[in-house]
Amino acid sequence: MNFLDRVLFRDTRSWICSRATGEVLEIAVGTGLNLDHYPERTALTGIELSPDMLARGRTRAESVMPDANLMLGNAHGLEFPDASFDTVVCTFSLCAIPSPDVALAEMTRVLRPGGTLLLADHVPSSLRVVRWLQRLVELVSIPVGGEHFLRRPSLALVGDDTFTVEDIERFNLGLVERLQARKRL
Ligand SMILES: C[S@@+](CC[C@H](N)C(=O)[O-])C[C@H]1O[C@@H](n2cnc3c(N)ncnc32)[C@H](O)[C@@H]1O
Repeated sequence: MNFLDRVLFRDTRSWICSRATGEVLEIAVGTGLNLDHYPERTALTGIELSPDMLARGRTRAESVMPDANLMLGNAHGLEFPDASFDTVVCTFSLCAIPSPDVALAEMTRVLRPGGTLLLADHVPSSLRVVRWLQRLVELVSIPVGGEHFLRRPSLALVGDDTFTVEDIERFNLGLVERLQARKRL
């Protein structure tokens, strides 16, 4: 991920995390690579499916965000009441979560009206030849690691009645997309 951050995703972690406010839920927090980038006053809860990734995330949190509450959890069924968070963040994970639509519905449920949804992911390139390569890579990456390259989760929110898209950017041959959307009141 560090290599991809440098060459592909650029400043996406700070772009996403600097927009988070209040009580924040991060979905699939992984090894906690976003933790360095949250503003000081945010109160972070993170969920992660893999105990190994969670352990590494907790180790990172000890030094950079000791108050963060990182726990095991499944994006398909979040154990939080409706409207619990001011911000929901999900970076580079909807490509790996088996049912992104279910996960997005859960993120929407736990977000307060007026709250902010922040998503970033790799998406199908805007160049046809690159999309063909991505299709080839998926032949291996899906069976081996559940990693999808032809998903574009942010599209589900564009034109959706539940959210107003406030900012969306796509770059690096259209391979990376990041989005800020507000849940309507
Ligand atoms: C490529 S990593 C990205 C980690 C982190 N979000 C980041 O930006 O570095 C994808 C993560 O999604 C997690 N994941 C996959 N399916 C999940 C699910 N259903 N619920 C929660 N986490 C899940 C994996 O365990 C992995 O840590």
